[in-house]
Amino acid sequence: MTDKPFAAVILAAGLGTRMRSTLPKVLHGLAGRPMIGHLAATVATLAPAKVVVVTAPGMEAVVKAASPAEGAVQQPALGTGHAVQAALPALAGFTGDVLVLYGDSPLITAETLRAMLAKRQSGAAVVVLGFRPADPTGYGRLVADAAGQLDRIVEHKEANAAERAIGLCNSGFMAIDGAVLPGLLARLRNDNAKGEYYLTDIVAHARAQKLACGYVEAPAEELIGVNSRAELAVAEAIAQTRLRAAAMAAGATLLDPASTYFSFDTQLGSDVVVEPNVFFAPGVVVGNNVRVKAFSHLEGCRIAEGAVIGPFARLRPGAELGRDVHVGNFVEVKNAVIEAGAKANHLTYLGDARVGAGSNIGAGTITCNYDGFGKYHTDIGAGAFIGSNTALVAPVSVGDHAIVGAGSTIARDVPAGAVALTRAEQQSLPGSAERFRTKARERAAKAKAKASSRGGADNK
Ligand code: UD1
Ligand code: MG
Repeated sequence: MTDKPFAAVILAAGLGTRMRSTLPKVLHGLAGRPMIGHLAATVATLAPAKVVVVTAPGMEAVVKAASPAEGAVQQPALGTGHAVQAALPALAGFTGDVLVLYGDSPLITAETLRAMLAKRQSGAAVVVLGFRPADPTGYGRLVADAAGQLDRIVEHKEANAAERAIGLCNSGFMAIDGAVLPGLLARLRNDNAKGEYYLTDIVAHARAQKLACGYVEAPAEELIGVNSRAELAVAEAIAQTRLRAAAMAAGATLLDPASTYFSFDTQLGSDVVVEPNVFFAPGVVVGNNVRVKAFSHLEGCRIAEGAVIGPFARLRPGAELGRDVHVGNFVEVKNAVIEAGAKANHLTYLGDARVGAGSNIGAGTITCNYDGFGKYHTDIGAGAFIGSNTALVAPVSVGDHAIVGAGSTIARDVPAGAVALTRAEQQSLPGSAERFRTKARERAAKAKAKASSRGGADNK
């Protein structure tokens, strides 16, 4: 919350050609959601009065990814100042502060935005967010006056040698008094190196009107701009580092943080242990005291207290695991409720199913949920025992405490307490093994003799 209402304007009209993608740049994913979604979520924590996303025509998906937000279309794109101008109709009648953000800088923190708004409320008409990148080439430089006040911003292309020696750069993020913003934008001209309407020029115009301007500084890491896949990977690494730190600070043990991948919304309870090489796709909620063993992939699932997952488990959307459930190696669970204490420890597929409390699912059990057209449900009661290598042909149910013999193909409902098996009758032929081996040995010897006599003839 900030004292004064503010609106956020997110600039995202750039086409992002360096991504070499058909997807608009700001829709590329970072920790499981579009990068503009991260920015929008950070802004949302400050309760903006309004969010306006400036895009090129036909980029409704970008506005949606920042929702709740309003779209403003900029066409043609004539520079950052022109882009903010394109947002003005959406801000008509709004007199609070305006926060200008770049859609391709997803790692900004709420603290930094709060500091900008606080500085703005302390009297500066324009507050610019500065940072000190390792290599300032290409960035606008913040030029301060003798009193240390922000005087103007000079773009790299227009900067002289002394200005280029300034390490403090313009991130592009600004907090501006909404009452003076339209007037400042109206003064912009495009007589510069790029022939664009530079938003940065509003600083000099504000100073010319005797309005105070200031800046706040943020760590360069927060202001990584994503223009290429390589920069996207750098941003992903930073996002993951933050998520890992947050998970550990909240009481999870990560045996190898660097190989644990989180999504923006992963929720871990306390005393969760995550072994190496685990991937949390979006929508995962893990209860207390759960152990996720190595090489597991989890997405859209809930795991209750005390469960043990993996190694090599795959939990897909709609998997709901009760307390103390065990899901072991090479087990895939999709849209299935596994009730408390049930176990499926090896080589199993449970899809569109319920497994009752305390049931044991043998190795190699498959719920055959799909007939090429529709999906069907398998219901297994409590305390049931499904023998290894069973195919459950859905729709089908197995009642409470029933037993299914190994190797069965179950296509009809099994009543509670019944034993069901569909195995073919077994035959055992006493002494046959030795007779079989003797014959097989003779056949092999004959074949070998024939081959070597043919080989001898060829050598002559
Ligand atoms: C801008 C700043 C520069 C700063 C740098 C930080 C200006 C004039 N320069 O330069 O001082 O150091 O960002 O990264 O502002 N956009 C539009 N419409 C446009 C032009 C841009 O929406 O017409 C959006 C882009 O999609 C992007 C952002 O504005 O999200 C920045 O535009 P970009 O062209 O990258 O500006 P820079 O030249 O990098
Ligand atoms: Mg740029």
